[in-house]
Amino acid sequence: MRTPLSLFLSALLLFQTCAAGPGQPLTDQTTTGAIGHDAGHEFTFKTGEAEPRPMTQRVENAWDTLRTTKNTVLQPDKSRGLLGTAVYYGRQTVQLLFLNGPSTEKPERKLNKHVTAAVEELKTAANEDQDPDAIFLLAEMNFYGNFSYPRDFKEAFRRYHELAWLDGNNTAQNMVGFMYATGIGGAVEPDQAKALMYHEFAAEAGNIRSEMTLAYRYHTGIGTPKDCDHAIHYYKKVADKAVEYYRSGPPGGRALVRESYRWADEEGGVYGPGASVSSSGQNARDSANATPEASVEDILEYLDLMSRKGELKATYTLGKMNYEGARGLPRNFRRAMRYFKVVTKKYWNKDGSVNSNPPAGLDKLASKAAGHIGLMYLRGEGG
Ligand SMILES: *[C@@H]1O[C@H](CO)[C@@H](O)[C@H](O)[C@H]1NC(C)=O
Ligand SMILES: *[C@@H]1O[C@H](CO)[C@@H](O)[C@H](O)[C@H]1NC(C)=O
Repeated sequence: MRTPLSLFLSALLLFQTCAAGPGQPLTDQTTTGAIGHDAGHEFTFKTGEAEPRPMTQRVENAWDTLRTTKNTVLQPDKSRGLLGTAVYYGRQTVQLLFLNGPSTEKPERKLNKHVTAAVEELKTAANEDQDPDAIFLLAEMNFYGNFSYPRDFKEAFRRYHELAWLDGNNTAQNMVGFMYATGIGGAVEPDQAKALMYHEFAAEAGNIRSEMTLAYRYHTGIGTPKDCDHAIHYYKKVADKAVEYYRSGPPGGRALVRESYRWADEEGGVYGPGASVSSSGQNARDSANATPEASVEDILEYLDLMSRKGELKATYTLGKMNYEGARGLPRNFRRAMRYFKVVTKKYWNKDGSVNSNPPAGLDKLASKAAGHIGLMYLRGEGG
């Protein structure tokens, strides 16, 4: 379906691509200006940091309420006394033993009345004053279900969308982009063109998640023709930020979070196999390196086996995986250190001399392992 908006978008993207010319890097765009129209809104985006603005009284009240009720879990009614309690648990047990199914009682999702009151206050602030903090908080609560508030993706979308157009809040734009991309929770018809547009806006304002998403989308051609220049443009932005962050840390740099974009935006993800060149068909990511569904456990098990057989490359890889924390695997410095030391001890003797007749290639591996050990001591990790 081609909406006027998606046509506008294509034009915008085409313009950007052509203006840059083939092979030329895109110039940084640090402008502020009106960009487009959606549902009759004039869309203005701001770059850079938004100056902090004091919370309004209403939002502050709501926050106070939510903060204090955050941890109250609904307790079973204590007033029923010993007999009542016995009967209650007796009934539960009978149900469990003989009815062989979950309790037939409706799950009591009675909303805490403080939370309800806070939400009412936020709604007033959002609807009457268009208070950005209130809109944002409502959006998050509906999306994530914070404070045990029941999720409502449609409402979350409405609020994020409202905020995205209200003051160009790039967190909200990113979320709208994400929701258009995935159609999560049936909140909205998936629309890759719109997803792309919102991610573009957010990235323009420096939203790193959107930059990452766009880089990947242009790189693999999700909802857009493949475009390496664009991909590099965004990857470079992310890389620059990563380097800046890295350098601000201890000697050897800060530890980097390895994946800070959403899985759902990868692999054709939630929008189904074949939605991108990366996911399936002839154009699947070069099948030579493809490790179909190899889970971390499988890899670990295999490496462990090889390592026990004396395959030092496997030992070194295990060290690295434990140090860096591969997908789903928590970082474990002690274990990493142990693996690295296994490797170095095969090459160096206790007195620092080199083992006689080290196997070919061990020198390189041992020096890499030693490098890691050195870095870890320097940073005070797992010593
Ligand atoms: C978006 O708005 C919320 C609420 O006002 C604020 O906390 C958040 O920092 C804003 N995000 C950006 C990127 O300005
Ligand atoms: C709501 O929960 C999400 C996910 O746990 C979290 O990222 C977000 O910061 C929370 N928002 C608020 C306002 O507490």
